[in-house]
Amino acid sequence: MKINVKHSHGSYSVFVFEDQLAQHLKKSKLLKTKNLFVVIDSNVYKLHWKKLYEDLNRESSILNVYKFSAKEKNKSHTELIKILKSMFDNRCRRDTLLVSIGGGITGDISAMAASIFMRGIDYINIPTTLLSIVDSSVGGKTGINFNSGKNLVGTFYQPKAVFTDISFLYTLPERELQSGLGEVIKYSFIAPEKEKTFFHRSFNIIINKNYNNFIKIISKCVKIKSALVENDEREVTGSRKVLNFGHTFAHGIESASDHKIKHGEAVVFGIITSLFYSYREKLITAEYLFENLLDIQPAVVPFKKYYKLINPEIVFKSMLGDKKNNSSGISLVLINQSNEILVNYSGNKNGIIKSLIDMKVWVKESSGMFKKETVEK
Ligand SMILES: NC(=O)c1ccc[n+]([C@@H]2O[C@H](COP(=O)([O-])OP(=O)(O)OC[C@H]3O[C@@H](n4cnc5c(N)ncnc54)[C@H](O)[C@@H]3O)[C@@H](O)[C@H]2O)c1
Repeated sequence: MKINVKHSHGSYSVFVFEDQLAQHLKKSKLLKTKNLFVVIDSNVYKLHWKKLYEDLNRESSILNVYKFSAKEKNKSHTELIKILKSMFDNRCRRDTLLVSIGGGITGDISAMAASIFMRGIDYINIPTTLLSIVDSSVGGKTGINFNSGKNLVGTFYQPKAVFTDISFLYTLPERELQSGLGEVIKYSFIAPEKEKTFFHRSFNIIINKNYNNFIKIISKCVKIKSALVENDEREVTGSRKVLNFGHTFAHGIESASDHKIKHGEAVVFGIITSLFYSYREKLITAEYLFENLLDIQPAVVPFKKYYKLINPEIVFKSMLGDKKNNSSGISLVLINQSNEILVNYSGNKNGIIKSLIDMKVWVKESSGMFKKETVEK
């Protein structure tokens, strides 16, 4: 599967496949006679480097392999400087190709390094988590955390290509797969009406690791994201902002928990809170609210154990520093009865705290029963 993503300076392809990295790299000719600077997640290095080395080293030479410990606290200016320093120490030049291999944390920081090293060098992305495959590897947002705020410093910088090999997911810890599910749940709200059932079925497919169906699910997510980012590359006109559904809450929840709650998990809590907030604002009816909660309930089960870490007051404080905010205050992304995502919705403290409490109560009370047999073929 190949999906083309257009941007203001050209386009790039997202290749989605299973266990054919070498063939796809060769076919793309992007590595031919290139010097490579590899930034790789240190866990992925331990599990996959031997094979990756063979795949990368065929037509190019590797200047250095920078092993990066993928933690939110390392998505920092200190680590960014270390990567840049290593690029200089290893004699990277403007024609060096940076190869980023890992999840969203590795992708965000290494793409940022590529975007500012000598005013920008080419890079390719090989995402290895479900979250980075369905979301962060597409769209050209790079970044680091700053002053305990999420992604507050960054650039827009597009890759030369994205190589998505779903066989990396076989070694992904259970919790990380479920975190990726958080962004798939988000797509179920953004997707056109006719695809909603497909997405609702995909939740159990992912939970049950039915990998045969992953390429189809991933391709649908990437197509939705690429269409939105093509129309609004730098999140100016608005269409791209729908991708932030649940995310103002999510970033607050994630930061306030000191990242004990992972990004995709926080996105799920953020989406549920957005639904409650939309209900409080009378944008949706109680019936619509509970219909939607029921649709995502099977996927919420794995996250139940983390809701206790959420303290609404602290989350609210953390939300005050979100980069989506404008001069009129906290900017939320909500939903209305016609399934339209509403961006730039001005949020108030009372509604935010109450909706966070509603969310916690619902997550606690939701029976969350689902059975493998309910997976529809
Ligand atoms: N740029 C964007 O548009 C965008 C969009 C969404 C999220 N993000 C960012 O993405 C980040 C989250 O990314 P993530 O969920 O991929 O987390 P991550 O990069 O931290 O990876 C999760 C964990 O899985 C391990 N891992 C990665 N691949 C593995 C594999 N194949 N096998 C075994 N272990 C593996 C990592 O070592 C890490 O411990 C957040 O910082 C978020 O802000 C960015």
